[in-house]
Amino acid sequence: MNKSMPTSIIIFGASGDLTQRKLVPSFFNLFFKRKTPRQLNIIGFGNTPFTDDAFRQHLHEGMDQFANFKFTEEEWEIFSKNLYYHQGRYTDLADFKKLGERLSVIEGGAANRIFYMAIPPTIFPNIIDLLGLTGQLHEDGGWRRVIVEKPFGTDLASARSLNLQAHKVLDENQIYRIDHYLGKETVQNILFTRFANTIFEPIWNRNYIDHVQITVAEKVGVEHRAGYYDSVGVVRDMFQNHLLQLLTLVAMEPPSSFNATALRNEKVKALCAIQPMTPAQVAKNTVRAQYAGYRSEHEVKPDSVTPTFAAMRLFVNNWRWQGVPFYLRSGKNMLEKQSQIIIQFKEPPLAMFPMPPDKNMAPNMLVLYIQPDEGVHLRFEAKAPDTVAETRSVDMEFHYTEAFGPTAIPESYERLLLDAIQGDASLFTRADEVETAWGLIDPILQTWDSDRAMPLAVYAPNSWGPTEADSLLARDGGQWLNKETH
Ligand code: BG6
Repeated sequence: MNKSMPTSIIIFGASGDLTQRKLVPSFFNLFFKRKTPRQLNIIGFGNTPFTDDAFRQHLHEGMDQFANFKFTEEEWEIFSKNLYYHQGRYTDLADFKKLGERLSVIEGGAANRIFYMAIPPTIFPNIIDLLGLTGQLHEDGGWRRVIVEKPFGTDLASARSLNLQAHKVLDENQIYRIDHYLGKETVQNILFTRFANTIFEPIWNRNYIDHVQITVAEKVGVEHRAGYYDSVGVVRDMFQNHLLQLLTLVAMEPPSSFNATALRNEKVKALCAIQPMTPAQVAKNTVRAQYAGYRSEHEVKPDSVTPTFAAMRLFVNNWRWQGVPFYLRSGKNMLEKQSQIIIQFKEPPLAMFPMPPDKNMAPNMLVLYIQPDEGVHLRFEAKAPDTVAETRSVDMEFHYTEAFGPTAIPESYERLLLDAIQGDASLFTRADEVETAWGLIDPILQTWDSDRAMPLAVYAPNSWGPTEADSLLARDGGQWLNKETH
């Protein structure tokens, strides 16, 4: 990165939550870790009538409330000098011209620019059109990049159309589609566990693995986002992006090198190996559910059929994974916040040790804990002392806090923002990747919408979801594993 080149981050939708909660605390940390260019300008753009000072005050309050680290007033004084606000409408050419003029004054010469789209996908085409029309995407003297927040579309058709619109004025390598799960250390570590070691990869296939479970359980309900959430539901909110990303990292083939093109090629190949489901398969392999009481949440329609929980069984149809089920589940208002990937291995071919009739030997399991208590555990069987042949499951455990210290894991946005500044798109979703993911999700949502016979299950708040989700695994002889049960 050329640190001497001024770099401006223009945030559209800057008065929203994301800027306060995630973006500004992350930029603050990067700035004091001296990872950003020396002149970093952060310019908020939005309808809210903030002055620069009012914007700074608003962000200061956000830091007080949301930053998970301590900072001093002196540090804030220094950092906040980089913050500006420009009021404008997302549809007004004149406002965009003024933005361009303001940027030139702030930058004082050639500069790099990132346009950050923290706005709903419907507004995105307008903004890039106006940026194009006002010449702000021309790379004259500095590069131009666009970061796009999820959701990238609401289905395959809208994602395609967003891509088409974006490609009219931008090259694909200027577009950074964010999935903040990819910024999590534990998610990046999936690749390191697999490809920085030799012991896992030889058994990472259908010969040794019985099935894979991916759980992203949230304790929180829909909170203040109920209005938005009710129009998307859990599959658009969590599966199309976060859960499919986790699956892809587990299932993909080793790339030949650690760069954005090679990595993303392999991820797309893994997604392409999953066949979109027919309606009959949707009925058999998916469960949708809503927590009891959801319809009485503020801003939720009283007859809403929006699922707040889903579970599905997918197959990656290639030589490595043929016949190995990948079970995915995610929901709001569940018993605990718990995200993990369980690789369950097959049972030993021969039951050589005599077991009591009511017991089976537990299969080996590798658990990648995404959050909380980030780490990796390997469960295997050991002989119980003072018995002839009884076995007991034991764990080899790696905890990030023990190995790297309690504050070792940065906020996922820090990694992603820095990568975007450095021009590394490895942890961002490519156009074909996002479309392939929607291609898998669309048939599920369409069947749910059209097949009224497919029940919307109900689950108790603070539970692990509906019994229907348990049946999905029980049918194959398995069960969902939560942290306290393994
Ligand atoms: C977001 C979803 O993408 O991810 C939210 O829109 C969800 O509904 C959040 O709560 C979960 O993120 P994390 O990092 O807390 O697991």
